[in-house]
Amino acid sequence: MKSIKKCVFPVAGMGTRFLPATKANPKEMLPVVDKPLIQYAAEEAVSAGVDTLIFVTGRNKRSIEDHFDTAYEMERELEAKGKTAMLEILRGILPSHVNCVFIRQSEALGLGHAVLCAKPVVNNEPFAVILADDLINFSEKPCLTQMVEMFDYQHCSILGTQDVPKESVSSYGIVAGTEVRKGLMEVSGMVEKPAVKDAPSTTAVVGRYVLMPQIFEKLENTKRGAGGEIQLTDAIAALMQDQRILAYNFDGKRFDCGSKLGYLQAQVEFALEHDEVGKEFRAYLDSLSAEQMNKVVNMKKKK
Ligand code: UTP
Repeated sequence: MKSIKKCVFPVAGMGTRFLPATKANPKEMLPVVDKPLIQYAAEEAVSAGVDTLIFVTGRNKRSIEDHFDTAYEMERELEAKGKTAMLEILRGILPSHVNCVFIRQSEALGLGHAVLCAKPVVNNEPFAVILADDLINFSEKPCLTQMVEMFDYQHCSILGTQDVPKESVSSYGIVAGTEVRKGLMEVSGMVEKPAVKDAPSTTAVVGRYVLMPQIFEKLENTKRGAGGEIQLTDAIAALMQDQRILAYNFDGKRFDCGSKLGYLQAQVEFALEHDEVGKEFRAYLDSLSAEQMNKVVNMKKKK
């Protein structure tokens, strides 16, 4: 039996980097090709063995509930028209053994506070957290599956990490520690968004966590930190005083879909791999770059 059955999806952030698209719609509903970010995240959790998806939502998040709800009218219409392939897509959004729970974070007090809101549902068991705007793909096993396997072996909190370029450390929580083996570090310290000169490493925590339930006590005692928010990083640093915490460099490519550039990169790479449109899209990109090359050549000729 899989050890991690519950996954928390904090989706109550403001998504200011994506305004105006996120004014009335949550950023987690932005599609990459034909699926919203939150569906990729839910599928990753389900394939890791999770059967309870806990969404911590805020204002303007109704569309997430609707997305995972049954769309009776649409199903009936597709059925009547004999559009079985479409019907399957609609019905296959989540397997029937998976339950969704929605909890409202009344005020956006930070990621740590959002995770704390899930306490009444998680109770006293280890659980996963996925930030859906960190889209991770192109590995043999999905990221959370790799992390749950590591948890089953190590029985402690595991932070999903990746090495980032030195000049980007100030956008992340950065961990310090000693390497247990290649790609696995025992964490001895964590700094949220350090200046380049203060960063203890280039190992950055990205949007995947497996956490022991004792994190909730730490979150309850965490004061507002950077940006006036209750930071998950601060609670993890406190938990580290009592328990072993590991940073695991998972295999896979990560796209920061909370930023415009990361989102565009994900669109392109996912489109290139897409069964239906991949081939044509590749040809289109090739023709575009040929066009660009011609422009450069013509400009040089004019000079
Ligand atoms: P971000 O730092 O990406 O913030 O939150 P944001 O508000 O979503 O986006 P920007 O920076 O304004 O563009 C990290 C994760 O934590 C969730 C967000 O939904 C995102 O998944 N979050 C953040 C909450 O659920 N509640 C909060 O109070 C803050």
